[in-house]
Amino acid sequence: MDLPFEPYRIKVVEKIQRISREERVEHIRAAGYNVFKIPSAAIYVDLLTDSGTGAMSDLQWAALMSGDEAYACSNSFADFESTIKDIFGYKHVIPTHQGRAAEGMLFTVTLKPGNVVPNNIHFDTTRANVEHTGAIALDCIAPEGLDPAVEGPFKGNMSLVKLAEAFEKYGTERIPLVMLTITNNSGGGQPVSMANMREVSTFCREKGVPLIFDACRFAENAWFIQQREEGYREMGIKEICREMFALAQGCTMSAKKDGLANIGGFLCLDDDQWAQNVTNLLILREGFPTYGGLAGRDLAAVAQGLREVLDSDYLAYRIGQVARLGKRLDELGVPFLRPTGGHAVYLDAKMALPHIPQAQFPAQVFTAALYIERGVRGVEIGSLMFDHKDPDTGEIVHPAMELVRLAVPRRVYTHTQLDYVADSCARVMEIGPRLRGLEITWEPPALRHFTVKLKPVGGGRMIAKG
Ligand code: F0G
Repeated sequence: MDLPFEPYRIKVVEKIQRISREERVEHIRAAGYNVFKIPSAAIYVDLLTDSGTGAMSDLQWAALMSGDEAYACSNSFADFESTIKDIFGYKHVIPTHQGRAAEGMLFTVTLKPGNVVPNNIHFDTTRANVEHTGAIALDCIAPEGLDPAVEGPFKGNMSLVKLAEAFEKYGTERIPLVMLTITNNSGGGQPVSMANMREVSTFCREKGVPLIFDACRFAENAWFIQQREEGYREMGIKEICREMFALAQGCTMSAKKDGLANIGGFLCLDDDQWAQNVTNLLILREGFPTYGGLAGRDLAAVAQGLREVLDSDYLAYRIGQVARLGKRLDELGVPFLRPTGGHAVYLDAKMALPHIPQAQFPAQVFTAALYIERGVRGVEIGSLMFDHKDPDTGEIVHPAMELVRLAVPRRVYTHTQLDYVADSCARVMEIGPRLRGLEITWEPPALRHFTVKLKPVGGGRMIAKG
């Protein structure tokens, strides 16, 4: 039978309900066509993010109860630290309340204005944290990673040519570190191959520049390596993780993804001086070095989550569920980035709504229509999130891809609910020609997609009457 089997049964449920289309229209207007501002009670299936939205296991809930709340050197930190060292293998483990805090502190102690940080593709918080220090966030994804239509096993790979060009153009002294995001969230949740990690690692070592992973979805990436890369079929997930992490000198991590927790993060580093500088800042901003902005019980839940995420049965189900959603969308003729990613399906809004120019945010239009029609919340990963000024010319540059991400929370929704999502996307395709573009009425100076307000271009309805 062609089904991704759930390696668990359900012990607790949470009621959700559908509200009427009229009510949803009210909500989206009040939210300025920004789905981040819609109350979660007004959403039926919420695929805004896979971050912090997963269901914890019975053992994680038990860990919460036994969390040690000592201010310093708690048992829960000891468990957290030893579990992370066992999987990741780095010398220093610095807890933070979530991933972006780890990024913010790492970049504060390592970057200066005018520095450059190459990555396959920077996630939005990573880009923003790099830019906040006055440095340049540079994407060096291999070309196939920017083409939604091309199939490939490792479309998260970095281009060694682009990386070398960056060193040529800016000089090694302006590049204090190189990052690699596994899996590559902003490029479709696509994995990076071990071979590519090894090449990037060798390149960086030759230049004397540290390589740091953005490891949010490291276990999903390891599963793809096991399934798709020559020589890894018989290797366990944990061994693959150890091999990956040995290629870098540290990582930033949001435990809200592959930590299977609702909050938490950490920064791992081999370098003593960087770790000391970050720890000084940690005490100032997040808390004592053995809790870093988290409760002892949160540390305990993350440690247990990290042990569970390495289970091959879990990963086969998890990534299989996302692939199954892709298969349904395919059957219904909804265009999406190929192949499906580890945590999400990314709809191709340029293909879906070819009549809406990128300056009028077609992916945001699709996202709003999906909510209005069916109460499903996805998120725009396109020009609203990633428009930026060219550092040389100052002109607005739209991102290459215009996507609607349907991120699947871990262990939360059933196959039936995801079938409903696929059907809802087909509904938006059906009314596609009646959809009109959006324009911005207000935006903040950074990370605008979270709080931006929009309206249909020229006023009136976003969905013209059929
Ligand atoms: N890096 C990547 C690749 C991410 O996907 C995220 C978060 C972060 C860093 C920051 O971690 O949220 O714990 O501060 N991604 C979420 C998402 C928000 O919806 O993809 P955080």
